[in-house]
Amino acid sequence: MERLQKIIAAAGIASRREAEKIILAGRVKVNSKVVNELGVKADPSRDKIIVDGKPLMAKTKSYYMFYKPRGVVTTMKDPEGRKCISDFVKGLGERVYPVGRLDYNTEGLLLLTNDGELAQKLTHPSYEIRKTYRVKVLGIVPFAKLDKLRMGVELEDGLTAPATVDLIGYDRERGMTEFNITIHEGRNRQVRRMCDVIGFPVRDLQRTKMGPLALRGLGRGKIRELDDDEVQLLMKI
Ligand code: URA
Repeated sequence: MERLQKIIAAAGIASRREAEKIILAGRVKVNSKVVNELGVKADPSRDKIIVDGKPLMAKTKSYYMFYKPRGVVTTMKDPEGRKCISDFVKGLGERVYPVGRLDYNTEGLLLLTNDGELAQKLTHPSYEIRKTYRVKVLGIVPFAKLDKLRMGVELEDGLTAPATVDLIGYDRERGMTEFNITIHEGRNRQVRRMCDVIGFPVRDLQRTKMGPLALRGLGRGKIRELDDDEVQLLMKI
């Protein structure tokens, strides 16, 4: 017996939190009875579970890597009509959802999956998944300021955990310093806020790595399915 929201998430319909909302909204039936409270358990091999009138079927999980371009909202719908994830996943023939989010103006690696359980692990702070960002800021950043990012800076929601910062160099032509920063917290706009604190607002932000996955040669706006080795690495988390 397992909790209903876990069964629904495992079937790839929604994340566990979304599944809870679906249950509370009265959209789920177990053996012909509406279940609209949390905590109910079921056996997916014996009980008849129906979501929105459709029987729940065990579905194979899918995992994709997406190079989110700048100017795209990390949601499936945008009331303001801006470009969002659904504009890119239409051709896949299955429903997948973004794992966590990137700001509207941040580009780079975004994982898409229908594996709600894995999505939850990858975004939960206790798993401390490492994420690497390539940062560009205007001007020359003194070493002491990079050290400050490494040691932790005070944000309004508290001190940041130690980060890895690797200087790439100074681009003379554009007058910009480039560096990689690796963090394992998932706070809102964290890298941008950290750079604001040291007085070097971010001009360009790209996520290049997430856990064991790296963006590598994927083109901007493109999606590719993860290969078996990559999926295995994710499963080890
Ligand atoms: N940090 C940010 O500031 N923005 C992102 O999109 C991701 C991390």
